[in-house]
Amino acid sequence: PPARTILGLESSCDDTAAAIVRVTDTDATILSSVVAGQTDLHASYGGVVPEIAARAHAEKLDICVEQALTQAKLPLRAVDAIAVTSGPGLIGGVVSGVMCAKGLAAATGKPLYGVNHLAGHALTPRLTDQTPYPYLMLLVSGGHCQFLLVSGPDSFSRLGGTIDDAPGEAFDKIARLIGLPQPGGPAIETAALKGDTTRFAFPRPLLDRPGCDMSFSGLKTAVLRTRDALISTQQGLTRQDQSDLAAGFQAAVVDVLIEKTRRAFAAYPIAPNRTLCVAGGVAANMAIRAGLETIAKQNEGTFVAPPLALCTDNAAMIAYAAAEQMQKRDPDDMTLSARPRWPL
Ligand code: KG4
Ligand code: ZN
Repeated sequence: PPARTILGLESSCDDTAAAIVRVTDTDATILSSVVAGQTDLHASYGGVVPEIAARAHAEKLDICVEQALTQAKLPLRAVDAIAVTSGPGLIGGVVSGVMCAKGLAAATGKPLYGVNHLAGHALTPRLTDQTPYPYLMLLVSGGHCQFLLVSGPDSFSRLGGTIDDAPGEAFDKIARLIGLPQPGGPAIETAALKGDTTRFAFPRPLLDRPGCDMSFSGLKTAVLRTRDALISTQQGLTRQDQSDLAAGFQAAVVDVLIEKTRRAFAAYPIAPNRTLCVAGGVAANMAIRAGLETIAKQNEGTFVAPPLALCTDNAAMIAYAAAEQMQKRDPDDMTLSARPRWPL
């Protein structure tokens, strides 16, 4: 297959992103990857506000595209296709991205590809490490938590996942509850370093049940109850309380994720490569990374963790997914729609 240069757009959550990726049959190069976050815009609300996110995407998308082209030193006419996240995600943001991509495709006559955001994450180990199919992917972020058996650019089977909250969401919520800043993941990880994991006995939901499904909402409630009890007996939380709550919570999340990954890795047909991959913002967590690496080693497998900037939301993964998928399917047309829900 010839080399392809793809412009990708991403706007399904709270990052506006554009990237240009060049893919040949042997490797992939990120020519540029621009990500404009919105953390500041949402900070005072304690979570992503969909309407504010949608407006910010609409305002920033074309600027991100221009920056991506400038950094790649390419004119728009030099790209071979326009790729865009067309779901799943916050609908206002997805619509903004799809509209922008349609405009670019109409103006240039280039083919348009709508890409599933989760497929973008799931294919990232191929963008960064040329990981051969098939492999097991743990996708773990603020919005998602699932095991995927990835056997082709449009071939994914879901082996299990959370039945309620995503771990990142739980990290963020717990941080808020115990007085730590946002985003909660890094704040809890740092606080946990000084904490005692044994002071509070938090539950490990669904660990006693077979299979790869997970649950984090009961754990969240348990931490909340413990916090409330501490606050009512001593009129507040000390630094040490915060650290111990963070450490106990993180230890429970790690135990659940690691044990379920161990099962998934042992039980599913990922031979001959036996590769375990991780993606999503929670993959930044060192305790989680270390646990996953151990599982891969114990099973004589390989562990692939893309660099953090490519684990979190970005447009390079969307451009790359389109580059693989365009070998196998026709482009989309102007009827491409934004899908708030779109399971792989
Ligand atoms: O993938 P991502 O950037 O956005 C989506 O959710 O799509 O992931 C963000 C999530 C946030 O919930 C954040 O708290 C979490 O990833 N996170 C972490 C860490 N760094 C970020 N969770 C645990 N430990 C971390 N070090
Ligand atoms: Zn994502």
